[in-house]
This record gives sequence, structure tokens and C-alpha cells, in this order.
Amino acid sequence: MTDVAKEGKHPAVRPARPFFSSGPCAKRPGWTPEALKGALVGRSHRSKPGKAKLKDAIERTKKLLGLPAGYRLGIVPASDTGAVEMALWSLLGARPVDLFAWESFSEDWVTDTVKQLKLKDARVFKADYGALPDLKLYNPAHDAVFVWNGTTSGVKVPDGDWIAEGREGLTICDATSAAFAMELPWDKLDVTTFSWQKVLGGEAAHGMLILSPRAVARLESYTPPWPLPKIFRMTQSKDKGGKIVEGIFEGETINTPSMVAVEDYLDALSWAESVGGLGGLIRRSNDNLHVLEKWVRTSNWAGFLAEDAAIRSNTSVCIAVTDPAFTALADDAKEDTIKKMCSLLDKEGVAFDIAGYRAAPPGLRIWCGATVDRSDLEALTPWLDWAWQQVKA
Ligand SMILES: Cc1ncc(COP(=O)(O)O)c(C=O)c1O
Repeated sequence: MTDVAKEGKHPAVRPARPFFSSGPCAKRPGWTPEALKGALVGRSHRSKPGKAKLKDAIERTKKLLGLPAGYRLGIVPASDTGAVEMALWSLLGARPVDLFAWESFSEDWVTDTVKQLKLKDARVFKADYGALPDLKLYNPAHDAVFVWNGTTSGVKVPDGDWIAEGREGLTICDATSAAFAMELPWDKLDVTTFSWQKVLGGEAAHGMLILSPRAVARLESYTPPWPLPKIFRMTQSKDKGGKIVEGIFEGETINTPSMVAVEDYLDALSWAESVGGLGGLIRRSNDNLHVLEKWVRTSNWAGFLAEDAAIRSNTSVCIAVTDPAFTALADDAKEDTIKKMCSLLDKEGVAFDIAGYRAAPPGLRIWCGATVDRSDLEALTPWLDWAWQQVKA
């Protein structure tokens, strides 16, 4: 902690962009509403230029992520949740399923599978906030559902080594806070989802659904026993052949997308390409995490919820308060303390939206994705010390 913070004085430097929310995340550096001036507003998304914009978003995303040939990518309704639920409702039930949960959103997918779809043949592997369940328990004859990065606990999957190459089941991976920040082993992922408002800082609206050829084969050969609403349906009816609707993966969205959100996403892609593509984006997230790691190493009051660096997120970084003056408090007093810290930082205009997720243990969550500048995290850490000093006093 700096002497300035210890003395209760305001640190000298303020983050230029105090946007550390874990979603919607910071816009790319230099973003202004000017970025949207080319939006195809007042026009049909099925017009020639409308379809061209949607196809451009798909093709450039595929290239940026390095998707293998034969993988399909579609723009779907209802953000990441929409993409995940389309996959769960369309694909599950053909085999037993292994569910891995270690924070709020992964728990949601357990609820969907066990309580809504009522799959009997489901095994649930859970871990507390800050840890990962034992992924090696995955049976490759089963389907698997998991998040790549647990946004609410700051715990990520370290690699895909636990997924067998010759698996019979499908892997369904919610990668919304991992895509564009972490290497994803595409050969191990059959369904991958994300949304625009996370690592690329796009506008929220649509989900992205990536399907491997094996996922498409399942869609074309299996009909789930429950009804599927129109916005989940990716294949033609059985009497028309039951084939995948290729148009969805070429920009012919199932229902109407926001062309403003599309324009913003195209702008985010251009920025991503300009900072070195996927490698550049991952480097920016890692550099941002390193700022917080350096700060935590010398902090006498803060640590990481994910103590193990191998599974520590480089996007949604969750900070635990380790000072005994905090850890001795009851949960509601802890929450109160965090609220006070966040309110002080908000009033100073130095950090917005950094309280941990409501279902997570009380602490801070600081977004380190690529759209955040490292210099802003460097400016933030003395303010964190200042805020802790204020509430402790
Ligand atoms: C891992 C994970 N899954 C799903 C969601 C829900 O995303 P959306 O609001 O895009 O549907 C979030 C949101 O933060 C998330 O972090």
C-alpha cells in the first residue's frame, strides 16, 4: 500500500477510463458513437447490404478466433444465454450428461438441464467459489456442459487435456468471458457460445453459437422429446429432411437483429484486428491481470478468490479481502463493507461496477479483458488501497 493511501490521501492519478464492469464491459479504447455512423438503420436485415454486414461479422469472427474448417458460427437471439439454451434444448437427451459447476452461471446450466429439461441421466460435479471441480471425472461417452471461464468466481478451465480426442459425447462450452481472451482448443469443443459485450466490449443483444461438425451431425440425427420454440430451431422439420438450416450460419438470422449492435460489433472486430488479432487480445488481458498480480503480491489486505494461478481468470478477476478485520465479519457486514468501498470509488469516478457478483462471496471483481487499458489498472490499484483504508478506519 502506498504511503498516500495509508495517510488517507487521494492518490495522484485517476484511471482515464474507470470502466471495469464484467459486462457490459468497457468499450474499445477510443470508442465514440461515431463508430456507429455506418449502421444499416431503417433497412431490412434481409436486404443485400444487411445480409452482407451479418455475414462479415460471422466470417471475421471465425478468422479472428481461428475456427477450424467445417465449424459453423451463427448469430442468435438472447445473448449468450440464448446461445447456450439453444444448444441445451436442441442437443441434450441423446446421451447421459456430465455437468460441471463452480459459480453462478455454470449452476444455471445445471438448473436448466436437471430441473427444466429434467434429464435423469445427469451427473453434477460442483466446486466452491475459487476452485474447479475435478474435470478428469468427465466420461467421454457422455455429453458435457461447462463454462470455460466462471465469470462470477474468476476461475477458468486451464486447458482441454481432460477432454478425450475420440469422445463419443458432445462438449457444450459457455465461453462468454473467455472468447478472445484465452486460447480455446477448438478440436475439443463441439458447441461454444459467447456474446458481444464481454471481451470485445460490443453492444449487448445477440449470442454467438459455434458448432463443430459433430454437433451438426447430432442436430441432424436426433430429435429431442420436448417442444422447441422457433428461436431455438436450427434444423428443417423431419418431413423436409431434418437438415441444418445453413442460412443461420451465413447471416440469415432466425429473427430480427439490431443493426446498430451489428455495426458496433464490426467496429470492435476492426479494433481487435488492429491490436494484433487473437494473440494481441490475449496479451492485453494477460498484461492487465499481471498488474493486479503484482499489486496483490505486496498487498496486506487483498488476495485472489482463485488462489491457484493456473486456474485464475485473466478477464473477470475476483479479489478477496484477506485482512482479518474483514474476514472476521458476518456475511452481511462483509457485503456492507464492499458496498461502501465500491460507493466511495464510484463517487470519486475512479471505478464503476466492481463489486463481486451478488451470489459470490463478498469481494471485488475487476474486469481485465482486452478493452481495458493496462495504465488504467495501474492507476486503479492505489485507489483500491485508499478505499480499503477508508472503510477500515
Ligand atoms: C459465464 C456466463 N454465462 C452466461 C452469462 C449470461 O450472459 P448474457 O447476459 O450474455 O446472456 C454470463 C454473463 O455475465 C456469464 O458470465
